Amino acid sequence: MNPVLRELGGYPLASFQDLKAELAADGQPLFDFSIGDPIEPTPTFIRDALVAAVPEVSQYPTASGLRSLREAVAGWVGRRFGVTVDPDRHVLPTAGSKEAIFHLPLGIVDPRGSRRTVVWGEPGYLVYERGMRFAGGGSDPVPLGAPGGAPGAQSGWRLDLAALPPERRQATAIAWLNYPHNPTGATVDVGYLRSQLEVARAEGIVLASDECYADIYPPHGTPPPSLLQAAGTPGDPDLSGLLVAFSLSKRSGMTGYRSGALVGDPELIAIQRTLRPNIGTASPEFVQHAATAAWADDAHAAERREVFAAKRAVVLEFLRAQGLEVSGSEATFYLWFAAPEGDDTAYAEALLRHRIVASPGRAFGPSGAGWLRLALVPDVAGCHAAVERWQQAIAAGDLPGHR
Ligand SMILES: Cc1ncc(COP(=O)(O)O)c(C=O)c1O
Repeated sequence: MNPVLRELGGYPLASFQDLKAELAADGQPLFDFSIGDPIEPTPTFIRDALVAAVPEVSQYPTASGLRSLREAVAGWVGRRFGVTVDPDRHVLPTAGSKEAIFHLPLGIVDPRGSRRTVVWGEPGYLVYERGMRFAGGGSDPVPLGAPGGAPGAQSGWRLDLAALPPERRQATAIAWLNYPHNPTGATVDVGYLRSQLEVARAEGIVLASDECYADIYPPHGTPPPSLLQAAGTPGDPDLSGLLVAFSLSKRSGMTGYRSGALVGDPELIAIQRTLRPNIGTASPEFVQHAATAAWADDAHAAERREVFAAKRAVVLEFLRAQGLEVSGSEATFYLWFAAPEGDDTAYAEALLRHRIVASPGRAFGPSGAGWLRLALVPDVAGCHAAVERWQQAIAAGDLPGHR
C-alpha cells in the first residue's frame, strides 16, 4: 500500500460515524446537516440538456472539452465578475473541482524540487493537502481562527501568506485560498485577494483559489469576489501565477454530474491540458452539454440562493436565540458555531443522540476543534423540525454547556 494512502486513508472521526450508522439503522429520520450535498432538484432545463445530448455513439471526450462549454464558462465569468477571459487559453473544463484540485500538483510540482509544499488554511478542505501528498510534495497547513481568536492562529479564518516566515514561503509551490470558505462560511474582499496575489507573485508561488461557493451567498448581500478580479484590468487581466477552480456542484445542484472548470494563467492551463489525457478525467460530452446550459443561466442560481437563505434564516435565528457563538457564516450554505463548552465532538455526539447530525470542526483540521459545521441540507420544514428537537434537547439538559 502507498504509505501516503495508509497515513491519510482512515476517516478521523470513526466513532462518530459508527454512532451515526447505528442511529440510522432504525429507519427513523435523521436531520443530517453533516454532508455538503444539497437535496434540491437539478433544474429541469439542465437535465433536459443532458438527455438531449446523449448520442447513439458516445466517443472519448477531449482534455480541452467542448468549445461551447469553455465559452459558457467565460460568459459566466464575464457576467459574474466583470472579467474577460479567453475560452481557449484561460479555461479548462474539469470533472468537478475536487479532481482538478487533487490533480493540479501532478502537473505543476517537481517532487524532487526545492519548492514542493502546499500552503492551505486549516480548518479547510483536505484535498489541497491530499493531492500534494500523493504527488510527492508536502503539506504546510496554516492554523486559522475566529476574528481576534486563538493564539498562534491567523485571525478571521483568513490565510495570510505575508505572515508566514520566508523559509516557509520559499518552500511553497502552491498556496490555496478558498473564499467563501468551507467549513466556516467566511468571505473576503478584493483587497485581501490582491494582497495575497502580490505576495505569491513576489515569491513565485502559484496562487490557487477554490471558488466552488462563489454563487452561494445571501440574496441581498454583496456577491463574494473572485481572485480573477484581483488580476489587474478586468477587460485584459494579467492572470500570471494564478488559477481559480469553479464548480457547478453547488451553484446548479449538480454534485452528481461532476463538472467544473479551471480558469487562469494560460501557461498553467496548458500544463494541465497536457497532463490530463494521462489521467482520463474529462467529463462525458453529454455532461458537458448540460454544464454549458447551466453556466449560461443565472436565474436558477438566484433561485437556489433564495432556498438556502430561507433555511439559513431558520437555523441562524435559532443559534443566536440560544446564545451560541456564530462565526464566519457570511456565504456558502454552511453555518459555523462554537461548542458552548469548547468540545465539538462531545456536543456533536450529544446532538446526534437527538438525531441531529452536525460535523465536529476538528474533522476539517485541528484548528476546527471547538467549532461545529452545519450544512443547510434538510429542507425548510426539516430545519424547523430539527431546531425544535434541538430546543427540546437543550430544555432536557442533554446538551453540554447550555444553562
Ligand atoms: C471547499 C471545497 N472545494 C471543492 C469541493 C469539491 O466540489 P466538486 O468536486 O463537487 O466541484 C468541495 C465539495 O464539497 C468543497 O467543499
